[in-house]
Amino acid sequence: LLSGTTAINSYTAEIIGWSATGRSRFGRGCLPFPHRCLFNLQTSMSAQLIKVCSTSDIPDGEMVEMPLLGAETTILLVRVHGVIRAFQSKCPHMDIPLCHGAFDGEIITCLEHLWQFDATSGAGIDPEDTRLQQHNVSVINSEVFVEFANIPLQRSACLKKDET
Ligand code: FES
Repeated sequence: LLSGTTAINSYTAEIIGWSATGRSRFGRGCLPFPHRCLFNLQTSMSAQLIKVCSTSDIPDGEMVEMPLLGAETTILLVRVHGVIRAFQSKCPHMDIPLCHGAFDGEIITCLEHLWQFDATSGAGIDPEDTRLQQHNVSVINSEVFVEFANIPLQRSACLKKDET
């Protein structure tokens, strides 16, 4: 379940929270997720590994957008043939959330102007001269960690599942 490799040499852990709100207007798009706790692991290489969910939260052939509480960013996770990958969540054309589009299990289609992207690489299919930014994903003990560099994370209280 690895898509990219990230070694945790040393880390500090801090608790942040997230909630996922993305939903698709198509029949098959983003899955809604409950609030949950996460851990932000900081590697000695200054890349930040953020725990976003469990592998079981992303069924094969589905995509999920996850806002990260304390960070002004979201991430799009897709699972293709068992492999989880992470991409920028907004379309590179006009910043429309890709989560509102369609995912057939292999191709992400933007709702707005139907640009298409290969969910195994982020490469543009139509048009070809574009690409989604991809983030390394590490799976540790069935938990999914996404690597970010240089995003401003703030400490915040952990949102417990039963508070939602
Ligand atoms: Fe996505 Fe135009 S905004 S294709």
